[in-house]
Amino acid sequence: MKVVLAYSGGLDTSTILVLLREEYGAEVVTVTVDVGQEEELEGVEERAYELGASKHYLIDAKDEFARNYLFPAVKANALYEGKYPLGTALARPLIASKLAEVVLKEGADAVAHGCTGKGNDQVRFDITLRALLGDDVKIIAPVREYNLTRAKSMEILARHGYSVPSIHKKYSVDENLWSRSVEGGVLDDPMAEPPEEVFQWTKPPSEAPDEPLYLEIGFEEGVPKTLDGVDMDPVEIVKTLNSLVGSHGYGRIDYIESRVVGLKSREVYEAPAALTLIEAHKELERMVLTPGELRLKWMLDAMWSDLVYQGLWIDPLKSHIDKAIDSINKYVTGTVRVKVYKGGLSIVGRESPYSLYSEKLIDYDKGWYPDPKEAEGFIKLYSQHQLTALKTRRKNT
Ligand code: ARG
Repeated sequence: MKVVLAYSGGLDTSTILVLLREEYGAEVVTVTVDVGQEEELEGVEERAYELGASKHYLIDAKDEFARNYLFPAVKANALYEGKYPLGTALARPLIASKLAEVVLKEGADAVAHGCTGKGNDQVRFDITLRALLGDDVKIIAPVREYNLTRAKSMEILARHGYSVPSIHKKYSVDENLWSRSVEGGVLDDPMAEPPEEVFQWTKPPSEAPDEPLYLEIGFEEGVPKTLDGVDMDPVEIVKTLNSLVGSHGYGRIDYIESRVVGLKSREVYEAPAALTLIEAHKELERMVLTPGELRLKWMLDAMWSDLVYQGLWIDPLKSHIDKAIDSINKYVTGTVRVKVYKGGLSIVGRESPYSLYSEKLIDYDKGWYPDPKEAEGFIKLYSQHQLTALKTRRKNT
């Protein structure tokens, strides 16, 4: 049997690699997809070969991730439950598609991942893999199957004569270009404030510079294109914003999240670039869209985020929503001025060739304003349905 394993280099997937080889007798091809999880990538390939992988693939998918997953998420103002920018959820279908490519290339019989039975990631991986590979390629999820705990994993590695990591990880962390998520440990108490040690991308606001950071973000048809007037590619925009905005203490999220699998969990995230781009994009939409378009867009946005969170990236419903979101984003072109100061972000300016805001119309002295009589007549007609209903009902009760 030949198995393609999604390999991170961590304890769980290392144990799975050994289990698959030693206990299933499988040939294991490992795949690590680079979606920007910088520090976790070091030494992964060596570890894979040390544990007996027959071949290792390191696939750089950062550009594809930013271009085809993160920027569409900006267009959709994607915040699950109004809070979580979906970093992990967006990466899963991309990783699954890379796994599927390797499965087909290698002619493998099965694909394995290290997701637990309590999380959302198993849902996202399984759905995408089945959509791409059908039911002939088996999905193996040993952590879910055997309820692999840390202690069990260490025991399995030791039993087969492999070195066991000495550092005890206090938290479960998942990182990519879009967000860094931290779960577990003391965070499981929802009343406990996250200790400073859980944060790596953001400075505590008290240590942020005394000078505010001003940034101008340029959008074209809803897609971020420039920072302070300079053209940048998507990965560069995200990385630059993460480091600049994070150093000013903005980008932390702490909330109780509704998982797909029937539980609530306490999640802590850092996502400076994601939150900044989404706030700026939302504000530009407020300027260029009619009230009706804006309200429809907010509904579509919420549906888009739910689908992505729930692992339904491949749902045909999502492609209909994508088309509508793209169509509305045609006018979301312009520049947004953002100020970040001591952990807070505010939008302080915006301009667009499609702006529906008119200084001329809004100005009381110089601007055009209807004849007061026209306004009076409008208000009467505008509220006539309500007044008729109230009157009729008063009479009949
Ligand atoms: N709760 C988030 C999600 O379901 C992030 C999970 C990431 N995993 C982790 N071990 N921190 O998308």
